[in-house]
Amino acid sequence: MAEKTKIKIGSVPIFSGKRILLGVTGGIAAYKAAELARRLICAGAQVKVVMTKAATEFVTPLTFQALTGEKVATAMFGPEAEPLEHVSLGQEVDAIVVAPATANIIGKMAAGLGDDLLSTILLAATRPVLLCPAMNVAMWANPVVQENLDRLQARGLQVMEPEAGELACGAVGLGRLPEPEDIVEAAARLLSPQDFSGIRVLVTAGPTHEDCDPVRFLTNRSSGKMGFALAKVAWRRGAEVCLISGPSHLRTPYGVERVSVRSAQEMLVAVQDRFVAADALIMAAAVGDYRPVNCELKKIKRGRNEAQMQLAQNPDILGEISRLKDKQVVVGFAAETHDLEAEARRKLEQKNLDFIVANDVTRKDAGFAVDTNQVTILSRKGEPLRLPLLSKEEVAERILDRVVDLLAAQGREG
Ligand code: CTP
Repeated sequence: MAEKTKIKIGSVPIFSGKRILLGVTGGIAAYKAAELARRLICAGAQVKVVMTKAATEFVTPLTFQALTGEKVATAMFGPEAEPLEHVSLGQEVDAIVVAPATANIIGKMAAGLGDDLLSTILLAATRPVLLCPAMNVAMWANPVVQENLDRLQARGLQVMEPEAGELACGAVGLGRLPEPEDIVEAAARLLSPQDFSGIRVLVTAGPTHEDCDPVRFLTNRSSGKMGFALAKVAWRRGAEVCLISGPSHLRTPYGVERVSVRSAQEMLVAVQDRFVAADALIMAAAVGDYRPVNCELKKIKRGRNEAQMQLAQNPDILGEISRLKDKQVVVGFAAETHDLEAEARRKLEQKNLDFIVANDVTRKDAGFAVDTNQVTILSRKGEPLRLPLLSKEEVAERILDRVVDLLAAQGREG
């Protein structure tokens, strides 16, 4: 059963073959660490949990043992302790995630103390560490906690900002453990090659809405999934990512700046504002080609047997952007129902693109609103690259591989 959840069509789980040590310390958010362990396992990781004594007051080791299938380590001494685990565990794994990280463990790490199993493992650790602090608002605001975190970051540890909101203690403010989904992403970045480090990537996604009246609009079937996958994977690989999205219910990928727009004209302005500072633009948005000439101020009423609406052509965003193009790598998409490669090649030339990603949107398993895609990449030179059916994240990886190759050819490497 476990294998079934790990294997998706044409995709390799992001943590496949990776061992992660999950350190759980004693705060109420310890219950969320159970969900985190499950998500890491679903993403292919082998998870070893180490709990502090205080953590076991909130959640039992049995919970984690049942989820991970591995014995949970809690003590340095006594019959349950394995000899030398206090040194070896932090050196054998691929990464260490401490979630939640209390002010206490942060203080001990900053001071170089090792007075229990987890703090000693962290002292001897040679692998990358991600700290996910969670605590009461006043504790988080305490300068000593902030100074400790600054010291740890200066030593190369990764720290996730806690979220703002209502805390279990009733206080409102910063201190909540980030969502497990986001911790998984931050851990994925820790383990991914950082070939986009220092590179600014602009991605567009989703449909546009072209208003007809206060209750109606023209749109298309795009969900935004391909663009969101591109933004997510680019951030994972170290990029600074800005995602300009038309209306979409998808959650903003962790670490990504999102700019929400509605119409093609709004998207044009948002892209123009950010393009010059970007190193790469990937236009995955399904931009509406037409908009009503007039958006009626009052709801259009029924009553006539036939009605007509006059449409005006929207700007071609890529066409406009090609005038500003300097050294940026510019990538387009071609969503086609027929003559896939010929149409894509026409757009590649007309829109002055570095390459174009063509997909046949009549397929049920590719294109709009599904998690998989089957694309062909056409470049100015060379044969088309026809990829098999892959998850959208894996398609994103292939597109970004080509972007980074083009940037490297210009002498700009991450
Ligand atoms: N695009 C754009 N501005 C538009 C329409 C499309 O920048 N007004 C971009 C899309 O984001 C995509 C590429 O151009 O990257 C091709 O989009 P597509 O809808 O396939 O093609 P169109 O240019 O609209 O041409 P056609 O309607 O003839 O297929």
